[in-house]
Amino acid sequence: MQEQDKKHKKAPTFISVVNQKGGVGKTTTVLNLATTIAASGKKVLILDLDAQGNASTGLGILLEQRKLSSYDVLIDNENIQNVIKKTNIENLFIMPANQDLSSIDMNLAEIEKKASILKNSFKNTNVDLPNFDYVFMDCPPALNMLTVNALVLSNFIIIPLQTEFFALEGLSQLMITIKEIRNTLNKELKILGVLLTMYDKRNNLSLQIEEDVRSTLNDLVFNTIIPRNVKLSEAPSFSLPGVLYDQKCLGSIAYQKLTAEFFIREKRYFSKGALT
Ligand SMILES: Nc1ncnc2c1ncn2[C@@H]1O[C@H](COP(=O)(O)OP(=O)(O)OP(=O)(O)O)[C@@H](O)[C@H]1O
Ligand SMILES: [Mg+2]
Repeated sequence: MQEQDKKHKKAPTFISVVNQKGGVGKTTTVLNLATTIAASGKKVLILDLDAQGNASTGLGILLEQRKLSSYDVLIDNENIQNVIKKTNIENLFIMPANQDLSSIDMNLAEIEKKASILKNSFKNTNVDLPNFDYVFMDCPPALNMLTVNALVLSNFIIIPLQTEFFALEGLSQLMITIKEIRNTLNKELKILGVLLTMYDKRNNLSLQIEEDVRSTLNDLVFNTIIPRNVKLSEAPSFSLPGVLYDQKCLGSIAYQKLTAEFFIREKRYFSKGALT
């Protein structure tokens, strides 16, 4: 790349998909949103920040291809460029995760010191990276050092909520963490939206929970709802995101709708400065 181009290189938009509750649809949302955006011609990078490595597996990245992982960037100061892998999907790249991540020190005092590692390593290497338009971070089910690093780097947060009885449980703790990060390390951090997932329209409870969540969080909730859909859950075992495994299933259609809403919300934020 020419020196001149490097100077004028636009920073990507960073989005964390966060909820410390397990199994609410974080990874499924990252994979399907990132794939749909990549299909629209944008260059997209996924950072797998979960020791489970579900985003990496879901894109068919084999264990032997994960010798270098997000762990090496966070702990050993490895250059991001050396860790990123191209996926089989055009325009889609991933920084894979492996089990090593589970050994990262979760000690709170340590977190403060280490909260900006990911941000700094992007700052230091961005000029040499491909021109990414979007970077999605798949966070682990914990408010730990990995999630905090993702929040410090993010422009936006997407919070998936499983449409079940305890949907809002834990959200206040997450909101407190977001506020703390805003007050300290990342003033620009914004919630792009809360996403209802695994919605079962045959179940009255889903409707009640939707009403409850919308009346509590108002405009913060995406209009798009992700239904419970078996194709979405089958897709990772074929190393494909649902939107490619079965483009016409209701789950894929919902994620395509979400992508359109994602672009609208992003634009609204960048042009007006605030959503709510
Ligand atoms: N809309 C959906 N319909 C049916 N199954 C789904 C849907 N979304 C996710 N799943 C399935 O539910 C399980 C949990 O989803 P996912 O892995 O995306 O959640 P997660 O929040 O990333 O979990 P973790 O906290 O463990 O990282 C997976 O088996 C996934 O395939
Ligand atoms: Mg996950």
